[in-house]
Amino acid sequence: MDFEKECEERCSHLNEVIRAYLPKPEGYAARVIEAMNYSVEAGGKRLRPMFVLESCRMYGGEEQDAAPFLAALEMIHTYSLVHDDLPEMDNDEYRRGKKTTHAVFGAGMAVIAGDGLLNFAYETVLRAIAEEKREDVRTRKIRAACLMAENAGVYGMVGGQCADLAGEGKSSVTAEELWYIHKHKTACMIESGLAIGAILAGAPEKDINRLQKIGEDIGVAFQIEDDILDVRGSAAELGKSTGKDAAENKATYVSVHGLAQAERDAEKLTREALSLFDSLSAENEFLRALIQSLMTRTH
Ligand code: IPE
Ligand code: IPE
Ligand code: MG
Ligand code: MG
Ligand code: MG
Repeated sequence: MDFEKECEERCSHLNEVIRAYLPKPEGYAARVIEAMNYSVEAGGKRLRPMFVLESCRMYGGEEQDAAPFLAALEMIHTYSLVHDDLPEMDNDEYRRGKKTTHAVFGAGMAVIAGDGLLNFAYETVLRAIAEEKREDVRTRKIRAACLMAENAGVYGMVGGQCADLAGEGKSSVTAEELWYIHKHKTACMIESGLAIGAILAGAPEKDINRLQKIGEDIGVAFQIEDDILDVRGSAAELGKSTGKDAAENKATYVSVHGLAQAERDAEKLTREALSLFDSLSAENEFLRALIQSLMTRTH
């Protein structure tokens, strides 16, 4: 398998699927819809939607069932980035290789573009549930939507962002606090991706639980890697500024544990995730390669 090529093809397919769910800029709301679509269409790796689709395929699920969920998850992820970049949060000027939403549309419009994306995500999945005639699939869709909401909210990503902000400028953040931040602000959304696809496809409970654990491991590793890349990555490749964590006095895996341990821990978590992946009752060669590739990513 030519992983790079496969990944690119799947990413452009996902871009089409996601685009089809975006609202049309029209009427008096046109400007906010433009701002919503600007941030989604700016690009991004589409990692979370890829996880939804691949874990759904892995258990024999249908793409049309996964589509509204993968689009919604990317909408929520994108809203989190739009808000994360605001001057009052991380104060970033570049995202996905372009000027941030607030830099182009102003902070007020960026706030409501984020609100719009978050809400539109739920409109999208609720519509899919409302239209579902098959009773068993409808039940799975409701479960997937609940998990998506929980992992994005105060018991998930929003909670992590809260602890991240509270940790800013603190002279010491404990390893436990840092784990909470990374697990919640980042891993919860990745866990959603892996579990939602499997839930929609009717995967065995044991596998759904294991996928959630895999999501936690690779999600924390993903944020550790993000912290490492902020120190020594290339802004051109990342499409966002580097050196920002130190400038904003952020508690990161690098500032708490140092670069060398950050690397070791990211690797260890990925290895553990891969061995758990091999214990699942189904196989997906591309998904396994995708998880492995995150360890050496440069963007
Ligand atoms: C960025 O996520 C925010 C973090 C959780 C580190 P990604 O690195 O997946 O960003 P995109 O979606 O590819 O832009
Ligand atoms: C972002 O963490 C997490 C979320 C947006 C939920 P970071 O603040 O480290 O992400 P980047 O570096 O801005 O992409
Ligand atoms: Mg942040
Ligand atoms: Mg940030
Ligand atoms: Mg970062």
